[in-house]
Order: sequence, then C-alpha cells, then structure tokens
Amino acid sequence: MQIDTELLGSLDELDGVQLQKAIAQLADRVQEEAGKTTTPEEEQKFLSDLFDGERGLFWRLYSKVLAKSGRVTWADYGIRQFLRAPVERFLELGMLEGDPKNRFHSLQRYMDTLIGSTTDVEKFTIARALWESRSEGVKTAIGEYWLKNAKPHLKPAIGRYYNDLAKHLEDALKQRYAAIESGVEAVALVRERVDLSLPGVIRPTGSRHLIRQVFQEIEDIFFSIGFSIVEGPEIETPYYNFEALNIPEFHPVRDDMDTFYLELPKGAKTPLLLRTHTSPMQIRTMERQKPPVRVIVPGKVYRRDNPDATHSFAFHQIEGLAVDTDITFCDFTGTIEYFVKQFFGPGVKTRFRPSYFPFTEPSVEFDVSCPFCAGTGTATGGGTCSKCKGAAWIELFGAGMVDPAVYGFVNYDAKKVSGFAFGIGIDRLAMLKYGIDDIQVFFQNDVRFLRQFP
Ligand code: FA5
Repeated sequence: MQIDTELLGSLDELDGVQLQKAIAQLADRVQEEAGKTTTPEEEQKFLSDLFDGERGLFWRLYSKVLAKSGRVTWADYGIRQFLRAPVERFLELGMLEGDPKNRFHSLQRYMDTLIGSTTDVEKFTIARALWESRSEGVKTAIGEYWLKNAKPHLKPAIGRYYNDLAKHLEDALKQRYAAIESGVEAVALVRERVDLSLPGVIRPTGSRHLIRQVFQEIEDIFFSIGFSIVEGPEIETPYYNFEALNIPEFHPVRDDMDTFYLELPKGAKTPLLLRTHTSPMQIRTMERQKPPVRVIVPGKVYRRDNPDATHSFAFHQIEGLAVDTDITFCDFTGTIEYFVKQFFGPGVKTRFRPSYFPFTEPSVEFDVSCPFCAGTGTATGGGTCSKCKGAAWIELFGAGMVDPAVYGFVNYDAKKVSGFAFGIGIDRLAMLKYGIDDIQVFFQNDVRFLRQFP
C-alpha cells in the first residue's frame, strides 16, 4: 500500500484533533485500495499491509493516537472511519446485482485479520466495536441499511450470509478475548507467583570490626576480675590531657604527644584538643569517685603522627586504673600477667622494663615473650622470627604505679591510697595477635580484609 513513511512522520506534528482528521482522510485512500483488490493474493497483501503486527498501517496509526492522547477508543473519529472504510467497499450492497457470497467472504477475512491481530484488551475492544457498535458497527450497518437496500431477489441469500458471518465473528471474538485474557493472566501469574521453596533474599549482615572485637575481648577479661568500663570525651582540655597528669606546660613529654587543637571562637576560655591518650579519664574518674577505683577506658585517641605500618593519626587505647588503700606492686604485675595470659594464651611469659611516664612512678614497659616463635627468636622453619626480629620479646604497653603527684589533682590522700595504671595500644595489640603487618588496613574498610574477621 502506497502510504509513505514521510506522510506518517508528518502526523507526529499534529495535535489530537488534527490527527483524527488526518487518519480519516487516509481512510479514503485505504477504501480506494480495498476496491482495487481483485485476486485472493492482492486481498491477502492488502490485509497484511493494514494489520500485520506493528508494521501494519492501522496499528501504526493506532500507536500514534496512543502516544498523543494516552488511549485509543472507538470514540476516536479517525480510527472509526479508517476501520469502516474497507468494509463499505467490500459490500456496496445497494448496487449489487449478483450473489454477494464473495463479498461476505472478503468482509469475514477482513474482520478475522483485524480480530486476530489484536494483542491486548484495548485493541480487542476496538475490533469488537467495529462489529458490534450500535450506531456505526458493521453488524448494524448490514442489518439496518445494506440489507434493506438490497435487491429483493438477493435478500434471502444476504440474510443467510449475514447470519453465518455473525455466528463466525461472534465465535472468533470470544476465542480471541479468551486468548488475550489467558495471556494477561499468564503474565500476571508469572509476575506474582510465590514459590515458597525458593531460598530467601540473602542480605549480607555486617560484622564487628576487628578493633571492636579486640576491645570486647579485653573488656571481658578485665570485667571478669572486677573492673568496670567507663568512657570519656575525645575532645579534651589541656588540663585533663596534660597538667593533671603531671605534665606541665613546656614539659618535654608534650613534644611526643603533639596533637590537633581545635579552632575556637576568639575569647574562648580554654583551648581544646583531641585527646592524645585515654589517660585523662584517670583524672575524670578519680574526680568523680572515691577509692576503691577499678576501671578500664576503651576509646579513640589522636596524635599528629605520620602514617606508616605501625602509626596512625587516629588509633585506639584501653586505659586501666586501680586505686585503693592497699594496692601493691605485686597486685599490679599479677593483674597484668593474668590479662596477658588470658589474651595470648597460658604459654606466654611477661617481663617489665623500667620506663618513664610523668604520671606513674615507677613506670614500666611490659613485654610479652613472642607468641609466634614461642619466645625463642627462631621461626618454626628455621631462621630469625620475623615478628620479634629475633629478640624473643615483643613490647606490649606502658604502665606503672600511679605517681602520688597525680593524687594531688583529684584530692586523694597520697599517704593513704596507692594504685596502678596502664595504657594499651589496641591496634598494635590486634596486629600482634592476628598477624597483621600494616596498621592502615584497620582504617581502609576494605571488605576483603574485614571479612577475614567475621
Ligand atoms: C601512653 O599513651 C600512655 N598514656 C600509656 C600509659 C597509661 C602509661 C597509663 C602509664 C600509665 P604511649 O605514648 O607509649 O603511652 O602510647 C601507648 C600505646 O599506644 C603504645 O604502646 C602504642 O601501642 C600505641 N601508639 C602510640 N602511638 C601510636 C600511633 N601513632 N599509632 C598507633 N598506635 C600508637
């Protein structure tokens, strides 16, 4: 059929009403074409040009109306005219002299092709309306107009053909509707089917970070021997972070703990900084309560250290503090030894070496016999142990008996009370226990690393 694509393209620029008019005009051309079909092959081609899938002219026009107005119905003037045009040409009963059998067959094929090409309920409804519509449907047209105008000697035959056609089309409509419905149902069934035997949707659950797990391990150990857990602010005043810990301004130790000071509004009473260790909580705890004190303080601390395999500018510590009237150096070493054996296993040995912290006196560094080479300095396969570098000992953390000067800051009587304190670097402890050789992996949040510690 010679309806060029350019013409079809130009329909896109029209508004809804103009589009209907243009389709109605095309109907005249289609009617002409219908009149030209003489052989069954020509008729077949004509029908497939109109209704063959999405390429069929009628369905292309249908899509244009749908795109423009969101729906297509029998009330659309152009659509109605277009579908009726060939029908009128097939019958032209008023002028007919001979047997109209072939005309009825052509009409049946036309209707069959249209009905068979409907793929959803909306399209089907239009095809049905072409047959059934009271005012402009083909059924009414044959019965009320064309049959009446037919020559009297043809009327009985036309009546018969009409009845046959009506029965055939009504069956065809029923079947097509059932097919469309079951298709819709099948699609809905597939979409809505609930198969209870399928596995559920697996949503990966997170797990606690290794640092948090190590905190928990340590907290459990100290909790079991009577320590309670307290937490404190990460933003501190220099008084708690330094002075009350016996580190006055210009004390050289401050150089090791240079940190991040906050930018404060002009006129702020006191500078604020990110705490460099958890030790300020020793002071805050003793200010809050009288002896006996037995606390551990897990938390985050900050230092202006350059990142490398064992240094981070943010890391984790657990502070420990025990103060009472009768705490001795033996209680101190016994407690630490108990903790280390619980944490690394009963096979490890501990030792302490003299050290210096302004807030403990005496101060020590605790070492543990290397858990990787069982304190031999030699790796299992021979050669130097890479973890302790052959030293057989690994440095663990700093600790000491609380310096009596500190009690002065919290109104404790240094003559009556004594105690010990320790500060454990959690990141390095976790590295040691779990064989991790770069502290940075704790902060990179790479799930491949995190998944290894579920
Ligand atoms: C202190 O911070 C003291 N407050 C510990 C203390 C508490 C001593 C109570 C006596 C009594 P030190 O500066 O050594 O100590 O730090 C303690 C631990 O923190 C170190 O052993 C180390 O494990 C860890 N650490 C220090 N700097 C870093 C860093 N930049 N990155 C990761 N871990 C660090």
